[in-house]
Amino acid sequence: MKITVVGAGAVGATCADNIARKELAEELVLVDIKEGFAEGKAMDMMQTAALLGFDTKIVGSTNDYTKTAGTDVAVITSGIPRKPGMTREELIGINAGIVKGVTENILKYSPNAIIVVISNPMDTMTYLALKSSGLPKNRIIGMGGILDSARFKYYLSQELKCSSNDLHGVVVGGHGDTTMIPLTRLAHLNGLPVSNLLEADALKKIAADTMVGGATLTGLLGTSAWYAPGAAGAALVESIVRDEKKLFPCCVSLEGEYGQSDICMGVPVVIGKNGWEKIVDYKLNEEEQAAFNKSADSVRAMNNVLVEMKLV
Ligand code: LAC
Repeated sequence: MKITVVGAGAVGATCADNIARKELAEELVLVDIKEGFAEGKAMDMMQTAALLGFDTKIVGSTNDYTKTAGTDVAVITSGIPRKPGMTREELIGINAGIVKGVTENILKYSPNAIIVVISNPMDTMTYLALKSSGLPKNRIIGMGGILDSARFKYYLSQELKCSSNDLHGVVVGGHGDTTMIPLTRLAHLNGLPVSNLLEADALKKIAADTMVGGATLTGLLGTSAWYAPGAAGAALVESIVRDEKKLFPCCVSLEGEYGQSDICMGVPVVIGKNGWEKIVDYKLNEEEQAAFNKSADSVRAMNNVLVEMKLV
């Protein structure tokens, strides 16, 4: 198995670190445009092998995609991260050109790769990768819902004073501060609905905190978060390379599912060796479906910017 992570910044490097520690590949290639940066990160990580006991070979590359040839799964984290006060959507002007170029370069040397998109605004970057590459839809997966769901479980666990691992909670819709939809109705603590355990106001606050989970961290850190985004990217890669068939909310191409078409948005999907293999219908109620449709309107407006930029 060969995995490539493009972008050796905080998210890409953390994702690569998780992939190496879990030994998800024999070879892991880290690519960055900054001279020597990926090589440096790769060497630093390789020097943890003797301490952590993994055998994955990590190779750094300054924009030389020949080194990525034969990649099975490529993770795209390239682009600029957001600064405090910025929305993910404000990054589109710069990141769209970068993501399109990276997708082309990956596929030039690895025509069979499955592509995981993390760059923001993620739903639109996933749509761009799908439209510009013409790949079968199952091979393009945007990483957002897994991260947002992990944050949802974090906020629930803080309030319930329980383990995040005993919680089940799913966030669907767009990966934006106002577009994501924590499905509070379906969240549970080992089978016990959270609505039996917390007041409606507390649940509302948890959902609101989840939605601005990334923005809260950007405010604290001065840049985008990386530990949870990197770990979420690696969890997605793990389900692909180990063919785990995990059910994760991911951003995928919708063709009528959840009432939407010609758009990539977060819905629960089965992730395995073929990429995303199946969309699972959670049967949203009227209120949830209305929120999903509103979220789709925002994502679509952002996708239209790609048309104005003549990128799709
Ligand atoms: C976040 C970025 C990675 O939510 O979108 O932290």
